[in-house]
Amino acid sequence: MQAQGEAKKTTLTITDNRTGKSYEVPIENDTIRAIDLRQIKVNPDDFGMMTYDPAFMNTASCKSKITFIDGDKGILRYRGYPIEQLAEKCSYLEVAYLLLYGELPNKTQLADWSTHITTHTFVHENMKKLMDGFHHDAHPMGMFIGGLAALSTFYPSAKHIEDKKERELTFYRLIGKAPTLSAYAYRHSIGMPYVHPDNELSYAANFLSMMFRIAEPKYKPHPALEKALDVLFILHADHEQNCSANAMRGVGSSHVDPYSAAAAAAAALYGPLHGGANEAVLRMLDEIGSKDKIPAFIKEVKEGKGRLMGFGHRIYKNYDPRASIIKKLADQVFEVTGRNPKLDIALELERIALQDDYFVKRKLYPNVDFYSGLIYQAMKFPVDLFPVLFAIGRMSGWLAQWAEMLDDADQKIARPRQVYLGYVTRDVPAMNQRG
Ligand code: CMC
Repeated sequence: MQAQGEAKKTTLTITDNRTGKSYEVPIENDTIRAIDLRQIKVNPDDFGMMTYDPAFMNTASCKSKITFIDGDKGILRYRGYPIEQLAEKCSYLEVAYLLLYGELPNKTQLADWSTHITTHTFVHENMKKLMDGFHHDAHPMGMFIGGLAALSTFYPSAKHIEDKKERELTFYRLIGKAPTLSAYAYRHSIGMPYVHPDNELSYAANFLSMMFRIAEPKYKPHPALEKALDVLFILHADHEQNCSANAMRGVGSSHVDPYSAAAAAAAALYGPLHGGANEAVLRMLDEIGSKDKIPAFIKEVKEGKGRLMGFGHRIYKNYDPRASIIKKLADQVFEVTGRNPKLDIALELERIALQDDYFVKRKLYPNVDFYSGLIYQAMKFPVDLFPVLFAIGRMSGWLAQWAEMLDDADQKIARPRQVYLGYVTRDVPAMNQRG
């Protein structure tokens, strides 16, 4: 027990029972540095102790000041501001600025920032040729990822990643052009001409115009739908060290240009366990088809024959605060578009799952992707575009994570260790001696 008046020690003492030796390592922010374990050895020429942590279940890969999540309490904050307040009081561009610069913009800063983004929405005409090269049924996420990587060839000076002016330009370009690439991917898939950005529209409205404008001289989306899309971008803007942010940081740590790093992040997002889940939810609801088929579907999930997509989260073990906001948003959207008939299946699925021991025990709750797809579909976005919509919002978060990584003196090229369990050494046999 600690004696009265004795200063609390911020160290951890580890005893290696193989040798009986004890080691004292410093604790900072409730963490120890893995490299401090390297001194723990049985023999002097041993490599030294490492930690084994597949999937980073309990390893902090960085220090960050961007996003805070308390998964047990269902809390999500960007730069200290609760997601609920940001969704209610701010626009996506304000939130993007907050993520990148650490503070909300004042009126002048917001006007400048919006102008910069708006005036960087156009893409080089050759990008249309790139889009034209894809099959008509190419998945838009593949086109989007390809488009991001291709942008690096149009802006070769972006590789000067220490140059703050270049970085700023990259922020404007990637946030500005992400909706343009997405809309072009969609227009290509339906064989419609590409629609140029409209500088008079808001970020979300311009995207809707590039997606859906046909022959109208001016496209004006319904204000409720414009607002809903903007809120969805806010909810997706960042989520600390998720799979795609980790890809952005990991790939960016090689000091590649930011367009290539963003393409890698978007590729990570594409997977059905991450941003591809919103698409998978809709496909799952289609497959279930009607409420009476839900019990059989849940039974199969519990037997390990598939997952209930849009449920569960590595961090949230209570509820995903983004899902709660989206559920309310859905009502506002459905007032304009009419109710998505799949909502009834989703609500019933949620009701049954939340009462079922399998899901309760594992703390599986609806995540951001469970209801977002229903809104997107009601707004007439095709299902395979859903992950791209996630990526548009997440672009600002990726860039904030990337810039923070570059400015962090602790960071180096990301290069994990492994526990090698293969053959020690053996001779190459001749072809006729191989099994
Ligand atoms: N349906 C059925 N069982 C599940 C599900 C699910 N959606 N998610 C987790 N489980 C089970 C899993 O089988 C395991 O059971 P057991 O202990 O018996 O082996 C247990 O719950 C723990 O799962 P895990 O895979 O170890 O958990 P994780 O933290 O590695 O995975 C997850 C998190 C999000 C990948 C996972 O919950 C999942 O696959 N969910 C469905 C996909 C999805 O909706 N993804 C979107 C995530 S939110 C958007 C984003 O930020 O990307």
